[in-house]
Amino acid sequence: MKTVLITGCSSGFGLEIAKDFLGRGWQVIATMRTPREDVLPRSKRLRVLPLDVTDPRSIRALIDAAGPIDALVNNAGIGLLNALEGTSMDAARDVFETNTLGTIAMTQAVLPQFRQRRGGVIVNVTSSVTLKPLHLLSVYTASKAAVNAFTESLALELEPFNVRVRLVLPGRAPETRFGENARSRVQGGFPEAYSGLVQKVFESWSQSTDPVTHTSDVTEAVWWAVNDPASPVRLPAGADAVALAAA
Ligand SMILES: NC(=O)c1ccc[n+]([C@@H]2O[C@H](COP(=O)([O-])OP(=O)(O)OC[C@H]3O[C@@H](n4cnc5c(N)ncnc54)[C@H](OP(=O)(O)O)[C@@H]3O)[C@@H](O)[C@H]2O)c1
Repeated sequence: MKTVLITGCSSGFGLEIAKDFLGRGWQVIATMRTPREDVLPRSKRLRVLPLDVTDPRSIRALIDAAGPIDALVNNAGIGLLNALEGTSMDAARDVFETNTLGTIAMTQAVLPQFRQRRGGVIVNVTSSVTLKPLHLLSVYTASKAAVNAFTESLALELEPFNVRVRLVLPGRAPETRFGENARSRVQGGFPEAYSGLVQKVFESWSQSTDPVTHTSDVTEAVWWAVNDPASPVRLPAGADAVALAAA
């Protein structure tokens, strides 16, 4: 029986990816900053373990507790919506610590076992914002674009060891807590000079009838990435992301 370790399983995509792999017979290590067993179905194949991807000690303890794994899904991430002038460097660092360096650190932590075993898959969840720039997302987009570049270079380096690395790029998914979580980080509000732009951006989102991404699109893409060696390195997930990738 194969084992997948997923980061950021308390809500959203991570939670649904954990349920999906459980439903398909895998052993699942669902990691959360604050572990909660009650959000997932009871199963002998499930372990819920603590992990903060920004904390090296937390990563070390998790890797020791987890034992051998076959797949790592780097899903944990935070959003940041603001003009650059309204973004503190602390906020920018937090975004890169979680989205970019957290992904790099988790990848580094599992590589020795994958390389020695000559097998394993790493899936990094980034975003379709890296395919088409959007307003007020410069720092977030940069943190995810860095993961795209990291992943594509690493994929080459790990080929000789039969270790696969994949990218899943979800589109806009209003059904997760992501937007709400990102809004809670808008400390100090938006700078006055950008208020017109901010209003336009919010209006266009609220009036949009464009296709969006559903959590099932993301779980399908992650399943494909993990299980099909012929899958491409980049997998857009969701109708909006697929359209952007094809443009
Ligand atoms: N929803 C979208 O529109 C969208 C679109 C494209 C890409 N994405 C990406 O998809 C991924 C999942 O997002 P989501 O939509 O499912 O949002 P979500 O519901 O907010 O889930 C994010 C998860 O990441 C966890 N997390 C945050 N900081 C962490 C840290 N330092 N260590 C470990 N876990 C941490 C959160 O845990 P806590 O509960 O502890 O905060 C939560 O479980 C993210 O990488 C996001 O950038 C989302």
